[in-house]
Amino acid sequence: MSVPVLRTAAELRALPRRGRRAVVMTMGALHEGHAGLVRAARERVGPEGQVVVTVFVNPLQFGAGEDLDRYPRTLDADLVVAAEAGADAVFAPPVAEVYPGGEPEVRVTAGPMGERLEGASRPGHFDGVLTVVAKFLHLTAPDVALFGEKDAQQLAVITRMVRDLNFPVEIVGVPTVRETDGLALSSRNRYLSPEERTTALALSRALFAGRDAAARGDGPADPEEIRAAARAVLAEAEKADPPLTVDYLALVDPSDFTEVPAEPGAHTGEAVLAVAARVGTTRLIDNVRLRLG
Ligand code: PAJ
Repeated sequence: MSVPVLRTAAELRALPRRGRRAVVMTMGALHEGHAGLVRAARERVGPEGQVVVTVFVNPLQFGAGEDLDRYPRTLDADLVVAAEAGADAVFAPPVAEVYPGGEPEVRVTAGPMGERLEGASRPGHFDGVLTVVAKFLHLTAPDVALFGEKDAQQLAVITRMVRDLNFPVEIVGVPTVRETDGLALSSRNRYLSPEERTTALALSRALFAGRDAAARGDGPADPEEIRAAARAVLAEAEKADPPLTVDYLALVDPSDFTEVPAEPGAHTGEAVLAVAARVGTTRLIDNVRLRLG
């Protein structure tokens, strides 16, 4: 099974449109989580539609000292995954094609939402994400673009950019794909030793404990109980060997990523319980959606 690979914007522009077009943007090292997005894209546009996958490790969204250089680049394997999941074309441009004049002077800024949680830990990260997503939305001109809930804050800032700047595209979120033991699939999981992977399971276990706490009782869920349940699991893992180092644990409003107030009933509807932690040299993030009241 093969899929055409487009390397330049000109080649992409020359791709004839067929039906509705969906795009799935990735940094490659494709796994079942990415494949799920591609399948969801195919479902959205139907057999007569067109699914374009982008593969590009975007230097702009990596901070100094982050893993840009060691980020896995596995294009041949990615083409197989993309084709098997139903992609019609893969856009995999070199860096010089995307940023021909070097780093762009004009960028998209994520605003306050881009400074919370992931944005606080990784300054400039979401500006880098939004700038490349804006470029790729222009280059691929899709009717619909799909992003994983695994990166919930990314999904939220992209949704906000599209709304605030009137991009003519529908943004769709796709639920997180997990291993059977709960670990959220991530291209960075391949950095983990078997022992580190065992410790890393505490992320999803903490989130599930928080979700269980939210579902207990009949009254409005207590945000402090939810946070405490998750924190207890993380505290154990901080004592494990190898240990986990928590970056943040937060219960937030999914639309703007502000903290949910401590008082039960003050926030109703959906919330996101999000965690970021380091195991060894690998930084992992995960989140679950839960209902408060
Ligand atoms: P990347 O980390 O490769 O992820 C590409 C897409 O796959 C994102 O929408 C992400 O949320 C989704 N994804 C990753 N793991 C997933 C999982 N376990 N379940 C469901 N979806 C999952 O996110 C990026 O790349 C980049 O920031 C990008 C948007 C491509 C811009 O450079």
